[in-house]
Amino acid sequence: MSTRKGFTIFHLSDIHYDGKNIEIFELALEHLVEFSPEYVFVTGDIIEDPKGDIEIPAEMIREALKAVEEKNGIMPVFRVVPGNHDLFFKGAYGRKKNGKFFRIFSEEERGHYFSPDHHLSVFTFDSNHIYEPRGEMWRKFVQIMRPMTHGLIVERDLDEFSDWTRALKRSANRDEYLKSFKIALVHHHPMPTAYNFLTKLADEGYMMLENSGVVIYRLIQEEFDLILHGHRPVPQFCRAIYFDEENIEREIAVLGCGSTGKKTDDKIRAVGHNFNVIRVGKGGKVTATQYIKRGTGAFIPGEHIIKIDVKKDKG
Ligand SMILES: [Fe+2]
Repeated sequence: MSTRKGFTIFHLSDIHYDGKNIEIFELALEHLVEFSPEYVFVTGDIIEDPKGDIEIPAEMIREALKAVEEKNGIMPVFRVVPGNHDLFFKGAYGRKKNGKFFRIFSEEERGHYFSPDHHLSVFTFDSNHIYEPRGEMWRKFVQIMRPMTHGLIVERDLDEFSDWTRALKRSANRDEYLKSFKIALVHHHPMPTAYNFLTKLADEGYMMLENSGVVIYRLIQEEFDLILHGHRPVPQFCRAIYFDEENIEREIAVLGCGSTGKKTDDKIRAVGHNFNVIRVGKGGKVTATQYIKRGTGAFIPGEHIIKIDVKKDKG
């Protein structure tokens, strides 16, 4: 892949704003302004409870974006996907709240994105569905009975994904799209997380993206390179390799952001707070760094510079 211009993506997640926990989030936003990224992606759980004041963390993010614009003259492109805490009581119960989150963040901010200049494609998924409407009764029943912490991307949204990629492949920007760096944004983790212990209801089965096999395979077929996610408040990274429908080996990278601003509890104390910085060089080389803050220390870069392979050969 080549790209006309280099650029930076700032990835944050799981702020879980509860009206009090503001300092660490503020600190992360100071770093955001310092990095002056071209793109800012938030992968959900901005608030602890859907009834809370989501406008406060949303305004803090907008202020940081404005500060970048004042500094650089370019407003970063901002995209956000909802998390279970943005939509369900305690992130786990009740009916999905389709109000506040969707009013505070515009359709554009929640929408997909393609830049022919940066050779960048971004697809946003809402993974907070309770059941698959096209599923049969028993499957729906089992899905409805569980806490809503688990993730599900419904088939209707996967159809929208196919329509979106098909439209770009038929557009005047076909070549730019085919060679673009392709990222999916989703709240729930589509791959098992590296974690030493499981607490109470936070079982993998109650936390993961339920249909991650289907989702990853669809992304693989469309040559997506990277999935950015949140949810489990632990910094994560892994790669998955599958054969696509033409029997070609395809790799996808999966980068999870731990919590960028959640109140410090035992789990956070063990792994720290986190934001990620992804750099795309002029030649199209992509690297990511996980910045982690432990205790009273500063956010410092993790010891690995993560390489993200962006190979385009289908075009
Ligand atoms: Fe979550």
